[in-house]
Amino acid sequence: MAALDEMFDVRGKSTIVTGGASGIGRAYAEIMAEHGARVCIFDIDASGLNKTVAAIRGTGGDVWSQTADVADRTAMADAFDKVAAEHGRIDVVFANAGIDAGPGFMTPEGERNPDGAIDVMDDAHWDRVIEVNLSSVYTTIKLSARHMKRTGGGRIIVTSSVAAQINEAIVGLPYMPAKAGVDHLVRNAAMELGVFGIHVNCISPGPFMTNIAGGRLKNPADRAAFEAQSLIGRIGDPEDIKGLALYLASPAASYVTGAQFVIDGGSRLRIA
Ligand SMILES: NC(=O)c1ccc[n+]([C@@H]2O[C@H](COP(=O)([O-])OP(=O)(O)OC[C@H]3O[C@@H](n4cnc5c(N)ncnc54)[C@H](O)[C@@H]3O)[C@@H](O)[C@H]2O)c1
Repeated sequence: MAALDEMFDVRGKSTIVTGGASGIGRAYAEIMAEHGARVCIFDIDASGLNKTVAAIRGTGGDVWSQTADVADRTAMADAFDKVAAEHGRIDVVFANAGIDAGPGFMTPEGERNPDGAIDVMDDAHWDRVIEVNLSSVYTTIKLSARHMKRTGGGRIIVTSSVAAQINEAIVGLPYMPAKAGVDHLVRNAAMELGVFGIHVNCISPGPFMTNIAGGRLKNPADRAAFEAQSLIGRIGDPEDIKGLALYLASPAASYVTGAQFVIDGGSRLRIA
């Protein structure tokens, strides 16, 4: 039987985290760096990147960053090439960057929200959410596959959401179909890429306290609505996701692909 440290050994693994300046992505970058991986974070927020990189380096982590919009395919291809040149290969990619879609057609207090109605939806808003939350995952998987095929395999871990599996009235409309598309994309990519030693899985969080939606969950009414759904009485902290992220990146998950890991304090059972 492999020793515990061998099962979770990610030392030296060349790792990319998109949207890793904040929240869940930052937790992925921290746990990988803490366990000896070589991490490059991509994010659109240059000042957030600087802070996160400085904090992880302060704990001895091997981390650097590139400012990139995940929806910009040329910038993403360049950023992947730079990581491959710097690290010699790409082993683990967290396709994590994402944005909220604003309020839904209902408020957390149970009132109708006219601004969230489908008949007044701003088309540019719809397009941007689909671009960042779904199309960018396609781009990230595509570039990962291109690099990983050359080196005999790797791990792609996508941040989806429980919103892929349930419908939520207080969340902006484009968020649910974008994440549902992500779930299907992950399964299809796993079907195609397994033979090349490339594992594709997704993590599907429920509510986590991050900066998404401008830190909407810090607003007491929103927070209370989500806490009430949790079976363990609280929303998630990014620390809660680190173990699952490390597992999926490590030898311990050698027979896992095409899978979707819900991490939501049981909330989905209450909503569904
Ligand atoms: N927090 C939650 O409750 C929750 C629940 C389910 C799923 N998720 C998903 O988790 C992922 C991470 O979100 P989070 O909650 O940590 O939010 P967050 O806002 O704290 O972090 C998201 C990061 O992505 C970056 N980003 C946004 N758009 C980008 C772009 N176009 N290009 C590059 N970087 C970009 C942001 O600058 C930020 O650093 C998202 O995919 C989100 O949909 C979050």
